[in-house]
Amino acid sequence: MRFKGKDVLVTGGNSGIGRGIVHYFLKEGARVAFAGRDREKGRAVEAEAKAIEGEARFFHCDLSEEHQVEDLIGQTGQWGRLAVVVNNAGAGSRRSGIELGDRPGARWDKMRGANLDSTYFVSSYALPLLRDFGGGAIVNISSTATLHGNWGLYCVAKAAVEALTRSLAVEGVPHRIRANCVSPGWIATETDVAAPASGAGDWTVPPSAFGRMGTPAEIAAAVAFLASDEASFITGQTLVADGGLSILDYTSLSLLEQRGSVLFSGMVGDTP
Ligand SMILES: NC(=O)c1ccc[n+]([C@@H]2O[C@H](COP(=O)([O-])OP(=O)(O)OC[C@H]3O[C@@H](n4cnc5c(N)ncnc54)[C@H](OP(=O)(O)O)[C@@H]3O)[C@@H](O)[C@H]2O)c1
Repeated sequence: MRFKGKDVLVTGGNSGIGRGIVHYFLKEGARVAFAGRDREKGRAVEAEAKAIEGEARFFHCDLSEEHQVEDLIGQTGQWGRLAVVVNNAGAGSRRSGIELGDRPGARWDKMRGANLDSTYFVSSYALPLLRDFGGGAIVNISSTATLHGNWGLYCVAKAAVEALTRSLAVEGVPHRIRANCVSPGWIATETDVAAPASGAGDWTVPPSAFGRMGTPAEIAAAVAFLASDEASFITGQTLVADGGLSILDYTSLSLLEQRGSVLFSGMVGDTP
């Protein structure tokens, strides 16, 4: 019950990873406000919250529109004890609304709107509330796509989210507000069409060192840690939660398997 007596705002809490984050904070005693555009999914998560015996309220908001975010923060601010903001809403190429005929400016507007503007607007309007609460935490969701060049504008927008996190962290210091980022790898959600939500897809190359996708609950646990007092000396950081995917060089792994490895314990390539 690390968040009892605190309000938490989760953007994009009506599906996927965000929904998992809403569930996690409810179980930790928080009252949760969450925002998105799809009202039906929002109502469904509100119903799930009742089953957990927690209090969660859905707010309809297009987070890429500044005036809508201003309204959202105004309404959640009336609750009076906003202590944590999780900027989870975002979209890769599939859900960004980008179409083939879009000019470069329109593509960037859509990708930036969903991932970067949303994070910037929500954080900017929420900072005074966190300050008035006596301090708090912002946790942003980026992506390991920032490490790779084959994700187009998504990787650019998410890299900017990580840079924004460092900026927010510095701005928050005098007000006891910490800002950090969680960078997920492949996470199986109910909206995932590429693999079953179990994360055990039929992969050519495994989506993590553990041979499976991660779960929303695993990302939520990392978010909750960074938002909690246990992370009181951590700010401006990005925590990669990708099951070891980004530390693996798959090409050399097959070579090591062929040649055997004498590094460290010699266990590289052993199958458990
Ligand atoms: N799943 C992964 O493997 C993975 C990996 C790395 C990073 N991520 C990041 O994790 C976050 C959650 O992704 P997910 O996989 O859970 O995807 P998802 O199920 O598609 O959820 C995305 C959420 O963001 C909301 N959203 C997007 N644009 C919005 C806007 N303009 N205004 C309001 N809400 C908006 C959506 O709400 P509506 O549906 O109501 O529009 C939805 O709730 C994203 O930032 C994503 O980039 C995901």
